Amino acid sequence: MKTRRYHWLAVPILLSGCMAAEEPYTPVADLPTLMSTIVDPAADFYWDAVGWIVDANGTEFIRPQSPEEWNAVRNAAFQVTESGNLMMMQGRAIDEETYATYARALVEAGQRAIEAAEARDEMGVFDVGADMYAVCTGCHATYAIETIRPGARIGGD
Ligand code: HEC
Repeated sequence: MKTRRYHWLAVPILLSGCMAAEEPYTPVADLPTLMSTIVDPAADFYWDAVGWIVDANGTEFIRPQSPEEWNAVRNAAFQVTESGNLMMMQGRAIDEETYATYARALVEAGQRAIEAAEARDEMGVFDVGADMYAVCTGCHATYAIETIRPGARIGGD
């Protein structure tokens, strides 16, 4: 094995050269893991916050009941929003313009989701939740994940 020796003066130069080429972050979850551990739980929480439950006893309207519950909905909206950025990180992004367009659309819908939760606007949360869902399914339809992973649960429950 060939041994290379560098003078100590050369080391900082070599290091700075390689640092410039690398991103300062370390993607830990691969794309499906990011989806199942961060994106999906946060989106489910948001979708479940407002809606109607219809059963034998009639129809019940579900909405956050306290400032703490509203904060939890807002937090979920932030998680979904920032996850759009996480999807775009090098090392996990699919290198196609369509993918980036959907990821940016999630950040945009997410910002409206945050606003609706901060305004404690339950119909806003319901409507923006539908927009958010359309972004998830749009990207999934493009990348045919049901074909790739037949068992994957995508959105909702
Ligand atoms: C920018 C495109 C994009 C967006 C937006 C997106 N996804 Fe995904 N998602 C993918 C891709 C691609 C996969 C498949 C990854 C694979 O199997 O390699 C995936 C997989 C998944 C999976 C299956 C994970 C597994 O365990 O295999 C779930 C669940 C999921 N997404 C939920 C969501 C939800 C919920 C949203 C919206 C809030 C969302 N995704 C938005 C691209 C996207």
